[in-house]
Amino acid sequence: FGLLKRVNAYLGEYLSKKSRNKESFSDNCFSRSSSNSSIVTEEGLFEQPEPLASGTAVMEKILLRRSSLLRDQQQAWQESLEGREMLEFRQSLPAYKEKDTILTAILQNQVVIISGETGCGKTTQIPQFILESEIDSARGAFCSIICTQPRRISAISVSERVASERGEKLGESVGYKVRLEGIKGRDTRLLFCTTGILLRRLLVDRNLKGVTHVIVDEIHERGMNEELKLILMSATLDAELFSSYFDGAPLIHIPGFTYPVRTHFLENILEMTGYRLTPSNQIDDYGQERMWKMSKQAPRKRKSQIVSSVEDALRAADFKDFSPQIQESLSCWNPDCIGFNLIEYLLSYICENERPGAVLVFMTGWDDISSLKDKLQAHPVLGDPSRVLLLTCHGSMASSEQKLIFEEPEDGVRKIVLTTNIAETSITINDVVFVLDCGKAKETSYDALNNTPCLLPSWVSKVSTQQRRGRAGRVQPGECYHLYPRCVYDAFTEYQLPEILRTPLQSLCLQIKSLKLGSISEFLSRALQSPKLLAVQNAIEYLKVIGALDENENLTVLGCYLTMLPVEPKLGKMLILGAILNCLDPVLTIVAGLSVRDPFLTPLDKKDLAETAKLQFSHDHSDHLALVRAYEGWKEAEKDLAGYDYCWKNFLSAQSMKAIDSLREEFLSLLKDTGLIDGYATSCNDWSYDQHLIRAIICYGLYPGICSVVHNEKSFSLKTMEDGPVLLYSNSVNARESRIPYPWLVFNEKIKVNSVFLRDSTAVSDSVLLLFGGSISRGDVDGHLKMLGGYLEFFMQPAIAEKYLSLRREFDELIQNK
Ligand code: CDP
Ligand code: MG
Repeated sequence: FGLLKRVNAYLGEYLSKKSRNKESFSDNCFSRSSSNSSIVTEEGLFEQPEPLASGTAVMEKILLRRSSLLRDQQQAWQESLEGREMLEFRQSLPAYKEKDTILTAILQNQVVIISGETGCGKTTQIPQFILESEIDSARGAFCSIICTQPRRISAISVSERVASERGEKLGESVGYKVRLEGIKGRDTRLLFCTTGILLRRLLVDRNLKGVTHVIVDEIHERGMNEELKLILMSATLDAELFSSYFDGAPLIHIPGFTYPVRTHFLENILEMTGYRLTPSNQIDDYGQERMWKMSKQAPRKRKSQIVSSVEDALRAADFKDFSPQIQESLSCWNPDCIGFNLIEYLLSYICENERPGAVLVFMTGWDDISSLKDKLQAHPVLGDPSRVLLLTCHGSMASSEQKLIFEEPEDGVRKIVLTTNIAETSITINDVVFVLDCGKAKETSYDALNNTPCLLPSWVSKVSTQQRRGRAGRVQPGECYHLYPRCVYDAFTEYQLPEILRTPLQSLCLQIKSLKLGSISEFLSRALQSPKLLAVQNAIEYLKVIGALDENENLTVLGCYLTMLPVEPKLGKMLILGAILNCLDPVLTIVAGLSVRDPFLTPLDKKDLAETAKLQFSHDHSDHLALVRAYEGWKEAEKDLAGYDYCWKNFLSAQSMKAIDSLREEFLSLLKDTGLIDGYATSCNDWSYDQHLIRAIICYGLYPGICSVVHNEKSFSLKTMEDGPVLLYSNSVNARESRIPYPWLVFNEKIKVNSVFLRDSTAVSDSVLLLFGGSISRGDVDGHLKMLGGYLEFFMQPAIAEKYLSLRREFDELIQNK
């Protein structure tokens, strides 16, 4: 308690120093003149070359001069041999045929919506049309075009492509900017960036000064100022929805072209290749099956509707045109399983029997991509680099890796790319002839009633399937293999739900506040497709409870910091407190661990051994601290290159460990961005070995995820305020205990199957809950105390609860008076 008291006193001092003047703080921390170095760098790369705004005659002259240089350069390229060849290629794209229509529409309207099939030239051509026409008009240096991409990799690859189409290097007239990385020069007039970068820029510069055109590709965000031209682009055809949202903005559709693609569903694949499905070859390595099962049990209405419609579809399906062997094989097909064995077989079949051409394999996410890659590398043909170039493509890959995807392999080598749905619309790999589609994608789903978010694989929509299929017909007629029966495809929904209806909205609410867009519920009610009121209220309530918003829905100091960290607020809170209290190292591991797939593996046949293995990392009733120990052990073992052995012995996932390792770096640089830390190794880790303190930080992050521990003679039971009795997952270290010497558990996630189950939990004491539950910053003491008081009163005798509360009040006063 003494320690906590010291810590809290320090914390109070720290935050009040940071927020000496709360009003000006929130402005200051985002203002252009802020001394916060990383925010300035972030902007620095983004800033307009030379102050357009100065408007002096000299400036005007300089810009005119530069404009004519740009024009000369452009003309020289267009007249060169290579330039002419490139132009010929560009003219063959469907978008080029609409060039004049598009430019006229942009000239005459503030908002223009453009739709056109993937690969028709929206991303690479349309920003270029605008740039070229500005340069041709000899005002090139006056324009500034921003084109946003949903992901880093597409921003980088597209900018490279456009620069090369213009015969330039990156950083001349074309550049890119993604978080912590970018290339941009004095004359860069067309900038490809991620949506996140544009949002950050909006935080500091609502009017986008100097920007002439914003192109939002793969439509995401909307609402801009008046002189600005806004161009929205999309591959799918729900463009009318956007047009009516923007008061009937004109809609241009680019008619597409693709070569015919032959479609094979599972039954055809089995017939063609002679592969037989059996119950055992339907079970994948790496616990895949377990993962699918979980997704099926999760109580999400929409999902279970789809799952059951898939099962209905299977029941009703009629395979009588197929041989009895195939019918039998189909009856073994397991819709909860991704079918690694089948994919391996089919890939080797293609390599042996099919014409040349790259293969694109759509998987659900990074974890099964890397598991599949391991499996394929062990295969005699697919793992032979002289025959197969095996690559992966996902959102978080390194730039060097990205380039390989677009390169053509040597003759006789077949390129196979394992990808997430990133290659569905955002990036185009040219030489693809074969597509394998597992039919699923990871999507966040959210159930407002249970208030539980989750990232789970689920069946994709028909529109996604068509997109995936279309990727095979780009250069010649192609083949698409769907790894599920036709009847399942027929049961897919037409479109995917927009993300706004699938996420828990907490981060979005914080963004709305930091962009000063007024009342959250009012703003969201004006959205293109508004989320449910209940979901919005839940999010606002949650943000108040954790101290990110005050009673009047204004951002608190904590809230301001949270908007700078693009992670879930609860994780952001832990990072912030870990940084402030100088115990960052374990906190980075915990937050990273909560962001990846559970690194503790529980193979079905070795469940007991695995759970015992986990137990050796725990001496203190915390799954989170067990993770920290496991990671530290792995890190040590890695030094002797024994990381893999270590994982094998301890039932840990080496992939998750590696992912944690790189996420830690990512989070560290985010924290540096906020200005909360400068150094790391020494200054931020003075208290890293104090497990009481780490426990307190976990509580600070996970609150109000809390349940009480009630002991009876032989064991204990658990209870939350909302659900009553709850249970622990069997692989929690706390599930093996008969006593827990603390009265509370904080938990990260609860899932309702038949009963409510808690995943990863950490036991905490009264004093920790009392001091770290809810917000610990100035202001609104009563607001969050009401909530905490609710918990205490629910579980304790009123007199004790009241005593605790008055202690906490005293404590808050102490902090405030400091
Ligand atoms: O944005 P959209 O899907 O409409 O197409 P895009 O990305 O502009 O691509 C248009 C065409 O440019 C593609 O069909 C490819 O042939 C070519 N392209 C390429 O060769 N290399 C790239 N890195 C990107 C596009
Ligand atoms: Mg595109």
